[in-house]
Amino acid sequence: MLQWPLMRNNIVREDLEAAIELLRRDDPMLTQSSNVREFEREWSEWAGVKHSVFVNSGSSANLITMAALRELRGAGEVIVPTLTWVSDIASVLQCGFTPVFVDIDERTLGMDVDEVLRKITPRTRGVFLTHILGYNALDENLLKGLEARGVPLIEDVCESYGATFKGRKLGNFGLMSNFSFYYAHHMSTVEGGMACTNDPELYEMLRMLRSHGMVREASPRVRARYQERHPDLNPDFIFAFPAYNVRSTEINAVIGRSQLKRLDANNAKRTENLKLFLKNLDAKRYRTDFAVEGSCNYAFTLILREADDRLAQAVMRALSDAGIEFRRGTSGGGNQLRQPYLRNIVGDNAWKACPKVDHVHFYGMYIGNYPDLEKERILELCALLNKVCA
Ligand SMILES: Cc1ncc(COP(=O)(O)O)c(C=O)c1O
Repeated sequence: MLQWPLMRNNIVREDLEAAIELLRRDDPMLTQSSNVREFEREWSEWAGVKHSVFVNSGSSANLITMAALRELRGAGEVIVPTLTWVSDIASVLQCGFTPVFVDIDERTLGMDVDEVLRKITPRTRGVFLTHILGYNALDENLLKGLEARGVPLIEDVCESYGATFKGRKLGNFGLMSNFSFYYAHHMSTVEGGMACTNDPELYEMLRMLRSHGMVREASPRVRARYQERHPDLNPDFIFAFPAYNVRSTEINAVIGRSQLKRLDANNAKRTENLKLFLKNLDAKRYRTDFAVEGSCNYAFTLILREADDRLAQAVMRALSDAGIEFRRGTSGGGNQLRQPYLRNIVGDNAWKACPKVDHVHFYGMYIGNYPDLEKERILELCALLNKVCA
């Protein structure tokens, strides 16, 4: 038995000690305060963005990002992937946008760039792209095409932080970007997420959207503006937007600050692990030609070359028998268009328009890639996969 969970040791003793140290203080401040601000500052520095807003999950980052886009651009369409996490689509719907779906590029598992550009209309308010399982989904054509058409890009980097495009970290190429610190990701705050932007006005809005739409969350400059316009209101209780409470806590921020110190070293090990995995996998059975340049994965992508039901069943059985946890469908369980939450919006047959994601839905899986995986175990996994008989 290989006993291989999706994630291991992502929160270690030193992270817990940091939380314990906070709790040992006399009357510690636990609600959002200086550790959250410091974590945001340190994260911005690490990610190379100007501003970060720490929230209680990656889904919350998705939500306030879409809410900000709606405030900025008004109602309309948002182009989204068919392979992504549910909250990327749910946030689009919850903010009153119409999602427009795009099939995948098989090498990046991100959106097919030509299809994205083809689907832009005068009603397009943004492209909400997901970088899947550590692979970069950007290319020059997309960035130039969006810029020429004046369509904002929002990057979901929840599964891919540390990955780069042209040497620059993902999360830097659009109007806003999102990150998740869920336990199974590159690093964890137990639960948590970050919404980032380089735009100072958007940053003010994201801070307010995180906290009831409350103006006192913004900078003195923005607060003064609202107070002047609304002299009838208590300055502490001015609500600029119908928003949410998606704040996190000092405890989560302390864990995040401790984790961030190890992130680069852990990511470097994960990158080596993926290279070894793809190099030793039988390329005749499994896809090994992913766009690995600049990638940074916390999972091994395992996708059959052919639509072979018997082989898929045999692979899943072999993984289970060996104690190896996996997720069929890869990110978010595969083709979102097949999910019940979307069928009554897009219809029962919409999934048929996206055959490439549908292949991944049935013949794709992922397996955990964590920093302390030994080389021998990765080789053992490849040997097991290469000899599975249909
Ligand atoms: C691409 C993507 N976006 C958003 C999320 C949501 O993050 P969270 O689980 O922190 O809410 C996930 C979750 O795993 C994800 O994979």
